[in-house]
Amino acid sequence: MNNKKNMTAPATGSFGAMNDFATNIKSITPEYYQQVAAIIDRHLNDFVEKSGRMPNVIDIGGAGVLPFDLTIPNKICILDIFQKPDCLTLPDNAEWIVHNILSEDMPNKEKYDIVIMSGVLHHLADKNNNIRQNLAMCLENVKKLLATGGCCLIFESICPPYFDKLQDLFYPIYSRILTKALKFPYARLLTLKEIATALNAINFNYRMVDFRQIKQHYFAGYKVSSKIYPISYICVELRA
Ligand SMILES: C[S@@+](CC[C@H](N)C(=O)[O-])C[C@H]1O[C@@H](n2cnc3c(N)ncnc32)[C@H](O)[C@@H]1O
Repeated sequence: MNNKKNMTAPATGSFGAMNDFATNIKSITPEYYQQVAAIIDRHLNDFVEKSGRMPNVIDIGGAGVLPFDLTIPNKICILDIFQKPDCLTLPDNAEWIVHNILSEDMPNKEKYDIVIMSGVLHHLADKNNNIRQNLAMCLENVKKLLATGGCCLIFESICPPYFDKLQDLFYPIYSRILTKALKFPYARLLTLKEIATALNAINFNYRMVDFRQIKQHYFAGYKVSSKIYPISYICVELRA
């Protein structure tokens, strides 16, 4: 790992302080992870069928949740900005790399057939928000990681169109409440338009994958009903 480059990359929303996140999260919002697993497994199986080999997979901001069939990939790389918690045991085909996806270089030069990012984009905000700049940087780096013929699956909770401006306006206040009072990482929800604009800017081919909306969300450690928390879920498939 190149520490110098990692130190200069924006400091975003690490989940390192939440030791039990990976073990608990699937039982908090099972509806979400069941769908995520079904979509990822479908893509893993399609890859095997088309290429005749097992894919190399990277789960960016994976936190060790690993919501897919672990027996299909050849290799699984979990990339996150914190160290693997001791309570987590990884399968033999998995390695954990501590790295900031906003750094200039990856610690190795590998390319991946399937890149997964679930619930990561809205945590790319930093102390000064910078969500759009950081999103653009992240997508550039994802593009470099994708092997020819590979695909990236983004699962993301998005906000309604007006909500981006509201968040930007109140970011200095609410980010303090989030990080200091609720002890939660930085977060700034994106709109679909912001994500599409960032993808178009770097000519990343994408298509929307059907994703059923869920009734219970995870918010800062709590289960919240979709009636009071106005987010929806998307899955976007990006092609190299
Ligand atoms: C909401 S959690 C999602 C965890 C998992 N992917 C899932 O679906 O449950 C967001 C994850 O992104 C990681 N993260 C945030 N900023 C990051 C960055 N710049 N580089 C790599 N990982 C990052 C956090 O540490 C955290 O583990």
